[in-house]
Amino acid sequence: MTTELDAMEVDLLARVAASEDTAALEAVRLEALGKTGVISALLKSLGSMSPDERRVQGPLINGLRDRVAGAIAARKAELEAAELDAKLAAGKLDLSLPAPPRRRGVVHPTMQVMDEMIAIFAEMGFALAEGPDIEDDFHNFTALNFPPRHPAREMHDTFFFPPNADGERKVLRTHTSPVQVRTMQRTNTPPAAPWIPGGQEPPIRIISPGRTYRCDSDATHTPMFHQLEGLVIDRNIHMGHLKWTLDQFIARFFELDGVVTRFRPHHFPFTEPSAEMDVQCDTSGGEVKIGVGTEWSEIVGCGMVHPNVLRNCGIDPDEWQGFAFGFGVDRLGRLKYGMPDLRDMFSSDVRWLAHYGFSAFAAPNPASGLS
Ligand code: DAH
Repeated sequence: MTTELDAMEVDLLARVAASEDTAALEAVRLEALGKTGVISALLKSLGSMSPDERRVQGPLINGLRDRVAGAIAARKAELEAAELDAKLAAGKLDLSLPAPPRRRGVVHPTMQVMDEMIAIFAEMGFALAEGPDIEDDFHNFTALNFPPRHPAREMHDTFFFPPNADGERKVLRTHTSPVQVRTMQRTNTPPAAPWIPGGQEPPIRIISPGRTYRCDSDATHTPMFHQLEGLVIDRNIHMGHLKWTLDQFIARFFELDGVVTRFRPHHFPFTEPSAEMDVQCDTSGGEVKIGVGTEWSEIVGCGMVHPNVLRNCGIDPDEWQGFAFGFGVDRLGRLKYGMPDLRDMFSSDVRWLAHYGFSAFAAPNPASGLS
């Protein structure tokens, strides 16, 4: 029996070594260790042996099985490596195939529009100022001449924080106008943060873009939106300067000559007189066309800074005057680029962004065109 097993082992190991590919090796494996293989038959025969016989034959047969199985596994690894090498050596890389498309990020239209606005106003000599999103009552309302019972001070219009220990309720700023106050106030205390203006002597010429918040949500309102505030304080400033500045801006922003605008009387607590400026448009075709048609779209609130606001900020209204304006940035973007629903702007749908977004390399500058 031993010699028989030895002969079987020599034969099987020789055939394993001689297998030229994985298919040939698999044939040898089935012949030895498959269901009807020779070693499997020997293992089965152990069951019908006497215990004494099994004690002798068991280790011999199992040893044979282990050595043959080990040799097959080793040869298999060898053959697979060789087959992979051969495949790699034979394979060719087709460089003419197009590369799979890469997902690329885009600039959100609101940010693009803000950059466009900043570029235009920067060219007119406006400096950039910023303020905090979480404001106090003084900067958001009181300094801006809001009377105590003004509707904007109501819970249903404005997001208030719970009162702090002193009973003070902070707000999410409802407009960018508090930055006017922060800019005009010349306190000797250092600014609360490096990006909060510490105050400036007149003359002042600033714009302030940023986020604003109100309890509002429909196709033309979102609870968070963006405004861009402008403030000019100087001597002998009048409504003519305001109108010229806004008309210049509108023509450049929409890249249209002779866009017709109109000034409509309005009321803001912080300006007197106050106005809203509308731009001529046509929405009859389902999309907004600027500069044609018989409709008007409101784009900016503005006016001459109220003497009370100047006083509240420590500026003498008999010496200094000024104008201010506040644009809705998202609304301007919607008019220029034709988005149907303002809420889509902030739903973070990548398909919407891919459609309306801008290339990061298309940074707006007035010399090369804005959009
Ligand atoms: N703060 C106003 C608003 O949120 C917009 C505005 C109107 C800003 C007139 C101004 C201004 O500076 O003069 O509706």
